[in-house]
Amino acid sequence: MSKERGIHCEENFRSSEKSLYLQMDRERVYLGRLLLINAEHPLRGQGEPASLARAGSLPGIRSLEPRIALEETCLHALAALLAEAEAEEDILVVSGYRSMEEQTLLYEQSLRDNGPVYTASYVALPGRSEHQSGLAVDVGERRYDDVLDLIAPSFPDEGRCLAFKRLAAKHGFIQRYKEGKEQWTSIACEPWHFRYVGAPHAEWMERLGFCLEEYIGFLKRYSYEGEWLAKDGDGEKSAIYFVQAEESGPTVVPIPVCDRYELSGNNADGFVVTAFWKERQPDRNG
Ligand code: DAL
Ligand code: ZN
Repeated sequence: MSKERGIHCEENFRSSEKSLYLQMDRERVYLGRLLLINAEHPLRGQGEPASLARAGSLPGIRSLEPRIALEETCLHALAALLAEAEAEEDILVVSGYRSMEEQTLLYEQSLRDNGPVYTASYVALPGRSEHQSGLAVDVGERRYDDVLDLIAPSFPDEGRCLAFKRLAAKHGFIQRYKEGKEQWTSIACEPWHFRYVGAPHAEWMERLGFCLEEYIGFLKRYSYEGEWLAKDGDGEKSAIYFVQAEESGPTVVPIPVCDRYELSGNNADGFVVTAFWKERQPDRNG
């Protein structure tokens, strides 16, 4: 197996002929769709995400304001989820990407309007909000759009909202702040806040009953040399493992022979690799 120089875009490169060894700079730990973002793990990447797109630029998405944007992959997954849930007319995007300035204004406004206890429960500290990554979306039931609470929009466990919630993991989204997970997340239950992590991860989190804090910790038992977290999907197999980052300097991340892979930092101390293989269709003549 030969060593290859690292590449900077870490998603969807083919690794079909030989294993790859990527050389990842330490700052890459703070980039990717599996970032754990919370009070202990602020965002460290610089500025605005590279690939933001307006939510309303897709015909199937209704957004409260035309300027609301999301990271592009997250946005397309949201459109597919809304379409499958037949909820395009019923669910409204209330909030997406927020700059540091916007999160700060929201936090300070909430402190004034709602006080410190409510604010600590429902608004992340500036620099520690998933919304600043472009990977989090708040959704609300559209029939209440004239009275929608911008911090806590109505998203009931019924009708199209329930259909959306049930299909969310298949499209890579998790309800990020669930009841019973407050000791991990430090945020109260938020039925309206969905975070994009990608399909195999969202499905695993749902199957295991883990919030993101628990899942990121759980993945550390899997490694390239040891066991992988493997699953068969709709025509595709996936395998997940963790690579501990070097304390300083670059980390060599091994990638197996596969059809495609994704690599994300965890925003703390390492990288999560997700490798995919197409499942072969049975040979009709075989
Ligand atoms: N409402 C979530 C916690 C945020 O402000 O990011
Ligand atoms: Zn939110």
